Amino acid sequence: MALIPIPRQASNIDKAIPVHGYRKAAPGDLIDLAIESRIARIIKRSAIGGDDPFFVADLGQIVRQHRRWIQNMPGIRPFYAVKCNCDPTFLKVLADLGTGFDCASIEEMRAVLNLGVDPGRILFANPCKAPAAVAFAREVGVLRTTFDNIDELDTIKTHMPDAQLLLRIYANDEGAFICLGEKFGAHLDTTEELLARAWELGLNVVGVSFHVGTGATNPSSFCNAIKDARLVFQQAERLGFHPKILDIGGGFQDNCFESMAPIIRDAIRAEFPTGTTVVAEPGRFYARSVYTLVCRVISRRRQLGSAAASGIPDMLYQNDGIYGNFMNVIMEKEIMKPHLLKAKKSKAGNLGNPRASEISEKGNEMTKSTEHRYSIWGPTCDSTDCVVREVSLESEVKVGDWFKYKDMGAYTSTTATQFNGFSSECDIIYVNSEALPDV
Ligand SMILES: Cc1ncc(COP(=O)(O)O)c(C=O)c1O
Repeated sequence: MALIPIPRQASNIDKAIPVHGYRKAAPGDLIDLAIESRIARIIKRSAIGGDDPFFVADLGQIVRQHRRWIQNMPGIRPFYAVKCNCDPTFLKVLADLGTGFDCASIEEMRAVLNLGVDPGRILFANPCKAPAAVAFAREVGVLRTTFDNIDELDTIKTHMPDAQLLLRIYANDEGAFICLGEKFGAHLDTTEELLARAWELGLNVVGVSFHVGTGATNPSSFCNAIKDARLVFQQAERLGFHPKILDIGGGFQDNCFESMAPIIRDAIRAEFPTGTTVVAEPGRFYARSVYTLVCRVISRRRQLGSAAASGIPDMLYQNDGIYGNFMNVIMEKEIMKPHLLKAKKSKAGNLGNPRASEISEKGNEMTKSTEHRYSIWGPTCDSTDCVVREVSLESEVKVGDWFKYKDMGAYTSTTATQFNGFSSECDIIYVNSEALPDV
């Protein structure tokens, strides 16, 4: 384990908690130590305060995910999808690791450029852009972008005539958490016409992109899209273009990455000649496991009367919910797994070693004790703001207790709202359990 070098641009890498004294600490222990010390500080500062959730980000986990990417997708350059998590410190580590960036908006481009990243490392991967955004991109030197419709070509001709264009084609994994095919991607019966129009306008088509959907599970959706991309390459070549770039988009998940990667690699090898530049736009794969979220119980409703008699679980209200960092409960039907942290009655009054909750790995199934059953709700006044429908924990939970949620880095802080006046800003504590390459 080592400290990350001081960055050139503003970020919080230099604030990552040093590992001095914790050299043998596993990444999970380092995160728990950071949580413990933050909670101790909150409690010391004020008996009442600490009403905001906070994240702990292990920057070393970014390095490990990047290593996994390189091992399993050799030669396929990742352009990290900034929409997934735009924390500048996270982006800075990726920049130092040498990834490219997929940006969808002016603000995302700004965030990356502010880190000193060369515009040539940015792909403006939004096929339906506002004219002002296209003009901005050209002004700052971002020339590679996607399109999937005729009108977009007109916008590009006006505001970025020297664009290097990728034709985004339709692709869909029915099993993905969120399918994107309904909104984006040209169907194969339209690609020839789109390419012909690009040719007519004197634009330069340099490749093809697709996205099978975020949280994909089926490697054949990639294989089908790769075959389709090959057909579109041939259509483009017939018109006189010289396409060189295949962009296989995002959709990669932690739990099936190693099994899907060789199938995707084989499909590319079977369809495309060597010399094709292959890139990807992973988001979730890089960000999800880096962040742990810590929430505090702010209120509790113990059931009384008929609700208690009929066994309805007691209700806990925590300081973050679906309008904050838990949007995935709605968007992706994610089953959240709270880990209860209980205060240790030590001399220092610190939080003790986090005690794992009784949740099975499969989710919120009640596998053991049924004594302390709860539903967990967010802080807003909306009744859809339910984070966990039912969970069984090993001990009673009281107001002021804390929950830890792992794997909270993807589409959490970037989708959080300020609904009901609850802030979407969260403190992030950085730890680092790995060495970064020198930059
Ligand atoms: C164009 C584009 N690229 C990349 C991504 C990142 O996808 P994922 O997080 O599933 O890897 C998305 C997510 O929606 C996207 O729309």
